[in-house]
Amino acid sequence: MASGRLRRVGLLTGGGDCPGLNAVIRAAARTAFRRGWEVWGIEDGFDGLLRRDVHRLTGRDVRGILQLGGTILGTTNRHNPFQYPVRKGTTVVAVDRSDRVLRNFKALGLDALIAIGGDGTLDIAERLFRRGLPVVGVPKTIDNDIASTVVTFGFDTAVTTATDALDKLHTTAESHKRVMVVEVMGRYAGWIGLHSGIAGGADVILIPEIPFDVERVCDVVLARERQGSEFSIVVVAEGALARRGRRMLRERKEVGREPRLGGIGEWLAVQIARRTGKETRSLVLGHLQRGGQPTSFDRLLGTRFGAAAVRLVAERQFGTMVALDPPRVLAVPLAEAVGQGRMKKVPLDSDILQSARAMGIGFGD
Ligand code: F6P
Repeated sequence: MASGRLRRVGLLTGGGDCPGLNAVIRAAARTAFRRGWEVWGIEDGFDGLLRRDVHRLTGRDVRGILQLGGTILGTTNRHNPFQYPVRKGTTVVAVDRSDRVLRNFKALGLDALIAIGGDGTLDIAERLFRRGLPVVGVPKTIDNDIASTVVTFGFDTAVTTATDALDKLHTTAESHKRVMVVEVMGRYAGWIGLHSGIAGGADVILIPEIPFDVERVCDVVLARERQGSEFSIVVVAEGALARRGRRMLRERKEVGREPRLGGIGEWLAVQIARRTGKETRSLVLGHLQRGGQPTSFDRLLGTRFGAAAVRLVAERQFGTMVALDPPRVLAVPLAEAVGQGRMKKVPLDSDILQSARAMGIGFGD
């Protein structure tokens, strides 16, 4: 399969949707077409390989999609083929369906796969590579938590959206002399919170890497009050943890799926109001951060990643992932980028944190 001439490449997008996915699809398809390859779009991530739900892409399919959010191939963050959820009576059990993925890949006559996804999708890709699947990965996620690449596409758009929201919230906060608590995404990493918080002029930024104390958050709010700034903006990442507290979940973990984080913003707003006596409001930015048009940065990065993935396929560098190591895009082993304990978190000695602290932004510690 991987040693003959390359003729037919499959393309899938897995995990949560993310601005820039279509830019990757377009770039990968266009560069593959120019090599004379057929490009087959696989629907809904690895689900499409389980269902054999594929269709041949043409130039027409990838025309006019560069600026579109979402993914023309569909996606899911539910059905991990290694832990496929199957209902048995009243419970759901995990069944390993990875054999079927490999069988169908072969039956469809595909020579290589480009898997575009976050840590979940890339982890599946890596495990399938070890079982013989010729696959190249492309890292996507608004969370920016994938190791071995300086940044993932989608992150810049999410930060831009969150920053824009913070700019807008300043108006109400200032006019009503309120505290506004804004919960942003990012799972267990604080990249979105940190970058949007600084760019959006937040007074307190709470991220999973730095467990916080509610009293310290209130200290900032009250200190600002004494100095004549009667409003405060608090950005809290969905995965942030109060010291001695528990991580807040919206839903319990489902089989083969990450738990849904959330709720910390609402909880924190109640605590702040109680302790400071200030009128406090909270909001969850949620999926707005994953939606809409990708920024020019994400379109460019997605385009570079898509074209580079095709180059790696042509060179048969399977089991790798494209990664940004400025100024280059290069190949790194998938095994180094994903898997237990490899998540890229905000380093506590980062200059961004240091600069923010030096300016008086509170981190709740
Ligand atoms: O990983 C991307 C992400 O948007 C996280 O920031 C967030 O926790 C999660 O996905 C939300 O997933 P869902 O779309 O299943 O609610």
